[in-house]
Amino acid sequence: MGQEIWSGGDWPDRLSAYLSAKGAKKLLLVCGRSYDGLCVRGKIEALPVERVRFSDFSPNPLYEDVCRGVERFRTEQCDAILAVGGGSAVDVAKCVKLYCKMDPARNYLEQDPADTGVPLIAMPTTAGTGSESTRFAVIYKDGVKQSVTHESIRPDVAVLEPAVLEKLPPYQRKCTMLDALCQGIESWWSVNSTQESKQYAHRAVRGIMENMNAYLAGDSGAAREIMLAANFAGQAINITQTTAPHAMSYKLTSLYKLPHGHAVAACLPEVWAYMLTHPENCVDRRGAGYLADTFADIARALGQDSPEAAVSALRELLAELGIAYPASRTREQDLETLAGSVNPTRLKNNPVALDTQTLRGLYERILKDEA
Ligand SMILES: [Fe+2]
Repeated sequence: MGQEIWSGGDWPDRLSAYLSAKGAKKLLLVCGRSYDGLCVRGKIEALPVERVRFSDFSPNPLYEDVCRGVERFRTEQCDAILAVGGGSAVDVAKCVKLYCKMDPARNYLEQDPADTGVPLIAMPTTAGTGSESTRFAVIYKDGVKQSVTHESIRPDVAVLEPAVLEKLPPYQRKCTMLDALCQGIESWWSVNSTQESKQYAHRAVRGIMENMNAYLAGDSGAAREIMLAANFAGQAINITQTTAPHAMSYKLTSLYKLPHGHAVAACLPEVWAYMLTHPENCVDRRGAGYLADTFADIARALGQDSPEAAVSALRELLAELGIAYPASRTREQDLETLAGSVNPTRLKNNPVALDTQTLRGLYERILKDEA
């Protein structure tokens, strides 16, 4: 399904025209708390449609949050959805689109998903998740992470407006940017990569490396480039999905309340270092030679002569940015929990096989002893 990506300043006019062409009269505006202070608020409120705001959801959205959103969409008789926010707002909006015509008396997660045809527009307010261009959403039911995947929940339109990044606090700016960088790298080495996905991944990694310093210093031109790069990373993982660093990060996030991008960035250099020394465990059908070439290509895009140098450079980058590896007082116990937490299905996208013992060893390198 095609997606329109608008990265120009003319988006308010385009959005008005788009909504009127779709016959939309009432928008469900799914947005987080940051919406009130956003510079785009006035432009959104000037759109020639009615709006019903829905902000009643948690940062890691729950199934129950989505149910409330669906109910709001129905009782208010909305006919289009606009998500303005980070990954969670976009994920809630995606689920509302998918569930809004299902039977509310039954568990939505157990019903057959179908395209509801409800126009869905996403405007990300961070440059990181790329969720505005993927067909995936993550919600939690009874404490368990649920991956919702359907072609129709890829937003019909992604609006990229870098001005929204101006107020992003520095730590969040770094974490979201690192998420995008890791998504670009992981997509590139994923066993599911294609020519097309690798082009997106390349543009993402280069775009981030070339603009990182200026972006972190607050340059608005660089913010535009980083926002585009993060979107390219989203388009890349929409094709390939993510790999081991993402799979390993989720429990770090839930155990230590680490932001997603921070947790993923702590895992990636260690996973890469392991893969470089274990080519015999390559599971990519294109072979170990192909994988070595791919690692070399990624290293070059990161501005390094070799994958080994790239791993060191990534570790140094994290240190410079103040993105520390997590620490725990109960390290030994946690290592068991962490190693047992990784979803084996997600690991299948990784180009080198990782068993539970290996995962434990990797977490040993990542997790510091706080005692
Ligand atoms: Fe991510």
